[in-house]
Amino acid sequence: MYMINFYANGRYHQLPLINGTFDKAIDISKLREYTKLITFDPGLKNTGITKSSISFIDGEKGELLYRGYPIEQIINKCSFIETSYLILNGELPNYKQLKYFIEKINSFNLIKDNICNYLDKIPNSYHPMGILSSITNILLSFDNSIKSEDSYFYLLSKLPILAAMIYRKKYGLPNINNEKNICYIYNILSMFFSIPNKPYKKNYYIINALEKLLILHIDHEQNCSTTIVRLLSSVRSNIFSSVSAGINALWGKLHGGANQKVIEMLELILKDGGNINKWIEKAKNRNDSFRLMGFGHRIYKNFDPRAIIAKSIAENLIKKLNISDPILDIAKKLEINALKDSYFLEKKLYPNIDFYSGIIYQAIGIPKDMFTVMFALGRLPGWIAHWIEIKDNLEPIGRPRQIYIGNKKRNI
Ligand code: CMC
Repeated sequence: MYMINFYANGRYHQLPLINGTFDKAIDISKLREYTKLITFDPGLKNTGITKSSISFIDGEKGELLYRGYPIEQIINKCSFIETSYLILNGELPNYKQLKYFIEKINSFNLIKDNICNYLDKIPNSYHPMGILSSITNILLSFDNSIKSEDSYFYLLSKLPILAAMIYRKKYGLPNINNEKNICYIYNILSMFFSIPNKPYKKNYYIINALEKLLILHIDHEQNCSTTIVRLLSSVRSNIFSSVSAGINALWGKLHGGANQKVIEMLELILKDGGNINKWIEKAKNRNDSFRLMGFGHRIYKNFDPRAIIAKSIAENLIKKLNISDPILDIAKKLEINALKDSYFLEKKLYPNIDFYSGIIYQAIGIPKDMFTVMFALGRLPGWIAHWIEIKDNLEPIGRPRQIYIGNKKRNI
């Protein structure tokens, strides 16, 4: 085992090096015990908080692997449900395993009246992410007979139904029967867009675009919402409240909530006359709180491979559906101009997946305030896999330290 030698408090110490598949890390778990020192890393920019075998990002190369497979191969060869199985179980399913997985998910597709009654009481003005998180948190109270080993299938079945119910109620559509079709993505679209006596008409291009976009969202190692889910698992919270917390974290506009903010920003730029350079200058101005939404990423310092795929999905879908979208044109111009600007180049700020995902949702007919809900449906298998990983490895409670800068001990 390699060791790191360092000098602190008048003597030499040694800390072990840990080898991952690709990364190396200094194991500081005994640092305080040896030296009375702790580390300081705001935003956890340089801290590995766990070991995981679910996904891997090489930010310098712009590479994303799901259980070792490159995202570009997964996108071309696997369905959303096959990829979910892979993320949850470590290997791709054979025919029999996949059939069982789908049947098990479909077996939980009944929504009880008490859930509908609860939803009816929440004002339509509230954001769908808040509503989704709230119902997810208390799902067990409506159905306390769920066995823990079934809870993963239960969530995979219920969340798309709840998302569709939230959308339909908010936009004044009557409730419809839940789908039990073999295709998970078709089920989602059908539950959103069918109206009584007029079932949703299958559109291959739309199904394919949504399938690919949700695959891109399935997992992304220790992003904020996944870390929240893992922390909740570390204190042995149940899976429902852990996923509910993940939904709340994802809602943040610097995280998954960015997909809504990107379209709002592009609409604002268009309404303002389409002067792209004016908005680029605003984003560069330290005294202006405006940022280019959909630009930058904590880990990708080259390009986000998901953004490249999302851009081609968006362009393809808009072409196939024969729609002209001035927002896509503004987005493309903004990307070209920003990537010529030394501010964005020096800070390594490239478009991230959310720069293009809203354009895809918009072309499908999903309203802006539902964009992040769709992201949550995509991220759900990843959250569950991370929750299980912590539980199975019996990881210790996640409890960081701090540098206290408050008052010294004093008397009242
Ligand atoms: N527009 C303008 N300047 C930016 C931007 C941006 N979008 N992003 C970062 N910067 C600047 C930032 O001001 C800072 O400048 P300086 O060094 O002069 O202080 C520098 O770049 C580094 O930024 P940071 O905020 O320290 O970087 P971070 O790794 O903490 O934040 C981020 C990453 C994604 C939160 C940030 O880039 C951002 O706010 N982007 C816009 C929101 C967004 O698109 N979020 C979606 C992320 S991808 C989807 C997901 O996985 O959730």
